[in-house]
Amino acid sequence: MTIAVYPGTFDPITKGHIDIIVRASKFVDKLIVSPAKDTLKNPIFSQEERVELIEHEIKSQNLSNVIVLPFKGLIVNFLKEQKATLLIRGIRGISDFDNEFTMANMNKKLHNNIDTVFLPALESFQFISSTLVRQIAMLHGNIEEFVSENVKNKIMEKLNNKSN
Ligand code: COA
Repeated sequence: MTIAVYPGTFDPITKGHIDIIVRASKFVDKLIVSPAKDTLKNPIFSQEERVELIEHEIKSQNLSNVIVLPFKGLIVNFLKEQKATLLIRGIRGISDFDNEFTMANMNKKLHNNIDTVFLPALESFQFISSTLVRQIAMLHGNIEEFVSENVKNKIMEKLNNKSN
């Protein structure tokens, strides 16, 4: 049984992430989507909220072999715990590659049984990032093209609560 983990910050999950999840779910037996607790990014959504947002997307895509499990600490230790051997990462372009290549090699050094699989982001999603989505929403731009209706509503709720 091939088990893979797709980790990230997912603050919030975007249509680009969903595309990677759908594609990865087709070539593994089980895919675990894992929002990180320890991130230097200071997320606007708590880890619990990010889990809920991802779960909502997975339900609406009807992906029966995908689950959401948050993680903390080293990603390789989490993979070991989950008996996963593949780490999935999306690559949006050359600028992602450098960093991802370093992380993949470091993870391999930390745990030799793990391999990283890079999936190229679809052209239409290559310019999306969660930071840009948050920024556009904050400045009252339209984010419908980049995130689902549910995510859009939750971001707007969060921003409205912050400004009150
Ligand atoms: N579509 C849209 N956006 C995408 C994308 C795609 N296909 N792929 C990546 N992105 C964006 C994300 O939205 C994110 O944007 P942001 O920087 O504005 O938040 C950015 O690209 C980075 O991607 P993400 O997948 O969220 O990775 P990350 O850099 O936030 O997460 C971890 C990296 C958490 C997986 C990594 O730091 C980790 O493993 N940490 C655990 C500690 C550890 O083991 N460290 C040692 C590693 S060698």
